[in-house]
Amino acid sequence: MIILGVETSCDETAVAVLEGTGELSPAAIKLRSNIIASQIELHRQFGGVVPEVASRRHVETIIPVIEKALDEAEVSLSDITAVSATHGPGLVGAVLVGLSAAKALALALEVPFIGVNHIEAHMYANFIEHPDLKPPFVCLVVSGGHSDLVYLNDYGEYRVLGRTRDDAAGEAFDKVARTLGLSYPGGPAIDRISREGNPEAVRFPRAFLEEGSYDFSFSGLKTAVVNYVEASKSKGVELSIPDIAASFQEAVIDVLVTKTLRAASEMDTATVALAGGVAANSRLRQEMHRRAGEKGLDVRYPSPILCTDNAAMVACVGYFQLVSGKCSSLDLPAVPNLQLE
Ligand code: KG4
Ligand code: ZN
Repeated sequence: MIILGVETSCDETAVAVLEGTGELSPAAIKLRSNIIASQIELHRQFGGVVPEVASRRHVETIIPVIEKALDEAEVSLSDITAVSATHGPGLVGAVLVGLSAAKALALALEVPFIGVNHIEAHMYANFIEHPDLKPPFVCLVVSGGHSDLVYLNDYGEYRVLGRTRDDAAGEAFDKVARTLGLSYPGGPAIDRISREGNPEAVRFPRAFLEEGSYDFSFSGLKTAVVNYVEASKSKGVELSIPDIAASFQEAVIDVLVTKTLRAASEMDTATVALAGGVAANSRLRQEMHRRAGEKGLDVRYPSPILCTDNAAMVACVGYFQLVSGKCSSLDLPAVPNLQLE
């Protein structure tokens, strides 16, 4: 089976080709190509993604990126078994570009079309490089738009244990980076500069919320950083950007790791997985390893390139759904605020 995956929900135009034997197992799949045309440079001048600019660039880029993904995988259009594409959540104009291209291809090739939830796709990125990864496990999905703690019971069967009540983890990184004068996107910038800082320099608040809750909240932390910076400036105290960045990052990670490990313990799983752009964070990976290791848990995460937006993860969900006999209708809409059910 050859699955073409398409992802255009935000600022990456991405297309991937995934091969599979037809079995319902991560051991059955092999990534043949993974092309990502990033728009980061285009949006940097605005300090964030401009939706209309993103859609236009997707329109210009989608066909060449499809061609490149096929070329690199050494397959032709007639080899494709099914086409999958993100249908939400995301910027509606951006999602529509990839979704329409994917539907048109499926229609023309007379092959099944599979609409994919972008957050679910982030979780599935873990299967691409871990052929032995089997549910059940707890997955922390942390990206620029979403923060969810999910219990995966089986392929395609999961339960959301908690989610953010305000800002997503990545959004908090991006906003704090802006306050600290670091460049967009803020997550990688904070990750880098924090290596030179002291994570205990400033004790920022950790929002654990009410007892037993798996929800997250990062807006209070973001405000605490802004207030700290303002207060220091007005007192004429010199700011250490690496110290503030490292202390902020530590507060986010403390909450993420604590709640994920509590979920693993309560759900009695031996494995925890990370997914989404923030899962590329080096300190989060290190701390999750250290603290999960103390409990004898196995920790999995994708390579950084499969943590941030890509189409390999979309092709991966497409494969598992196709093998399970689940396809979508060609009138499936783009759903900007689609959530994990
Ligand atoms: O998954 P993703 O590419 O897009 C969404 O679905 O939102 O995630 C992008 C987010 C951005 O907020 C970015 O700042 C953050 O992931 N991110 C990071 C790192 N790399 C990307 N955050 C912390 N540390 C990183 N190394
Ligand atoms: Zn994403």
